[in-house]
Amino acid sequence: MNRKKVSVIDLQSRKQSGQPISMLTAYDYTGALLVDRAEIDVILIGDSLGMVIMGLESTVPVTMEEMLHHCRAVAQGAKYAHLVGDLPFLSYQVDLREGVRNAGRLLKEGHVDSVKLEGGREMAATVRAIVDAGIPVMGHIGLTPQSISKLGGFRAQGRTAAAARRLVDDAVALEDAGCYAVVLEAVPAPVAAVITQKLQIPTIGIGAGPHCDGQVLVFHDILGLYDKVQPRFVKGYAQLQQPIIDAFTAFREDVVNHRFPEDEHSFAMKPDELEAFYHSLKE
Ligand code: KIV
Repeated sequence: MNRKKVSVIDLQSRKQSGQPISMLTAYDYTGALLVDRAEIDVILIGDSLGMVIMGLESTVPVTMEEMLHHCRAVAQGAKYAHLVGDLPFLSYQVDLREGVRNAGRLLKEGHVDSVKLEGGREMAATVRAIVDAGIPVMGHIGLTPQSISKLGGFRAQGRTAAAARRLVDDAVALEDAGCYAVVLEAVPAPVAAVITQKLQIPTIGIGAGPHCDGQVLVFHDILGLYDKVQPRFVKGYAQLQQPIIDAFTAFREDVVNHRFPEDEHSFAMKPDELEAFYHSLKE
């Protein structure tokens, strides 16, 4: 097999060739290994880790140090996928220099290939500054979970004519600022279709209908592992919660009933060493 690492240029050329981009989140070495073996194009180390890994109510409390920790783990497991690290809340909103420094940290210390940040035209100057520093940026508009307090909950965006129009203008502003791709989250399919048609850069949808240039899902959602928040745009490709609980239950029952471990799981000693050992206990 002749696989090579997926670059920003590869992703952009997929817009021209019409070959859809696949993207999944991952948060650790083993997860990244599995996603990479499935030949997924892009792995996003999403700040969704605040919810699916840390059990928080939102992504807002996630820190740079937590992002760096998970980025490093994913980078150990993924050889081919393009790695995108999420800039967490307040790591880029306060000022441009801080945004550039934190984006650089995700590359230097987290070993990702590019960064993602949330927001539309109000983020254009930040995007430009980060791109000028040589760091590729993926945008993210529509439902932007870091602004959940302002949005009033996890709900679809751009459902009025005026809001949809603002989303189009935001997407264009992000492209003009230098983003190499943009995530569209929870926006009506026709709005995503217009944005996808208007932009030269790829759009990657999550709850944004079938007309985007790519699709992204969260690791725990696709495997049916997380049921606290279940948006209707999630498709569970496997339901692993019950099989995992069954395996844990079987382990507990084996332990309780002295069925585990068996000889094959235990270490033996040479008979003469064992004899000498028993003998030594009598001395
Ligand atoms: O953090 C995340 O997982 C994301 C995706 C939902 C796009 O931003």
